[in-house]
Amino acid sequence: MSAQLKAFRCSFLDFVDDPFYVSELESVRYIVDGLLVIENGLVKELGDYESLQAKYVGIEITSYPGMLIMPGFIDTHVHFPQTEAIASYGEQLLEWLHKYIFPTERKFQEFAYAQKVAAIFLDELLKNGTTTALVFAAVYPESVEAFFTEAHRRNLRAIAGKVMMDRNAPDYLVDTPETSYQQSKQLIEKWHKNGRLLYAVTPRFAITSSAEQLSVASRLLDEFPDVYLHTHLSENVDEIAFVKQLFPENEGYLDVYDRAGLVTNRSIFAHGVYLTDAEFARLSEAESAIAFCPTSNLFLGSGLFKIEQAKSKEHPVKLGLGTDIGAGTSFSLLQTAGEAYKVAQLRKQKLSPFQALFLATLGGARALGLEDKIGNFETGKEADFIVIDPECTELLAFRNSEATTTLKELAAKVFTLMIVGSDRTICATYILGNLAYERPN
Ligand code: GUN
Ligand code: ZN
Repeated sequence: MSAQLKAFRCSFLDFVDDPFYVSELESVRYIVDGLLVIENGLVKELGDYESLQAKYVGIEITSYPGMLIMPGFIDTHVHFPQTEAIASYGEQLLEWLHKYIFPTERKFQEFAYAQKVAAIFLDELLKNGTTTALVFAAVYPESVEAFFTEAHRRNLRAIAGKVMMDRNAPDYLVDTPETSYQQSKQLIEKWHKNGRLLYAVTPRFAITSSAEQLSVASRLLDEFPDVYLHTHLSENVDEIAFVKQLFPENEGYLDVYDRAGLVTNRSIFAHGVYLTDAEFARLSEAESAIAFCPTSNLFLGSGLFKIEQAKSKEHPVKLGLGTDIGAGTSFSLLQTAGEAYKVAQLRKQKLSPFQALFLATLGGARALGLEDKIGNFETGKEADFIVIDPECTELLAFRNSEATTTLKELAAKVFTLMIVGSDRTICATYILGNLAYERPN
């Protein structure tokens, strides 16, 4: 038996299809007593322990009795420099940016400071079971260098980019179309596909980029066809009115990006709270993705995202969950899934526990075009996974004391974790089959 083989015995939950469109029986894979076999950091096989064990006699098996293993969570929109600005009081988007966020991001000119915060940020991700994230850095290339340096050290699959912003922000925080082009290009050449890292061209939003800068972003996408486009879209009513003033010739917010050539199948738009039917249809047609950020949308009072529109049968849009730290209030994709459920409730809609967890795993992978690499336990995928403790607190131990065997029982159990779970719920996080985080007792 090869020395690179290892295995984990536990209960397993992952998704093999989309529970918004196919039944849970066909989309959810639940193995009560399973064996996950890993070879050189990739999934070799997942199946019933009883049927697989004879094939793998003699290999090292780590057992997690009473736990549940899932693919690592995927955060499709988050700002690492805003880690220290979480829970900044009293404002909505535009005032909040000027009062708290821009002064905070100024500190990320300095590589050493940015590196210190990147390390804290990445430790928080792992502690909360997030193994991949699409990340805004700051306008300074040093902040991107710092982020990628720390993500590389941890061998994480991560996507990030330098923020492009050339107007409507303080002088200390703006670049120009030319400098943003040169700096982004250099960063792409150094970091895109460096190990597991990928680059996203990152204009902050239509308010802080001139038409000229948006066209520079498009030029970068043309020159480097497999990098991403990552920005914000239709988050807040005042923001949308300002975009209308700045771009009176355009048909709407999405059209500003569209005419610039930024609406592609590698584009991820955060928020989309106020998208029109026509905009949803256009995103569907372009195969762009939306990052739904419920804790942020509630914290900033932005509004209630229309999940059922994004996941409509007529115009399906790729959808993931984002924490959007520091407007978001938790690094936990479990808590984010719980808040997504509450947003649905406020709109008299239902978001099932499996639908929510799909968004946090395979749905996020599809939104990022990484479904061939991460998101579930299909053979050949990268073995980034988490060990979940359904009895991580006294309350949850009491609530979840019954054994689980059916999908219905599992749905009820994971729902409790979305609603009252936290970073305590994550017992361990593995990156490419190696332990990267273990919860202290
Ligand atoms: N729109 C433009 N910049 C930001 C940001 O930093 N956070 C959020 N939530 N929205 C934005
Ligand atoms: Zn954001």
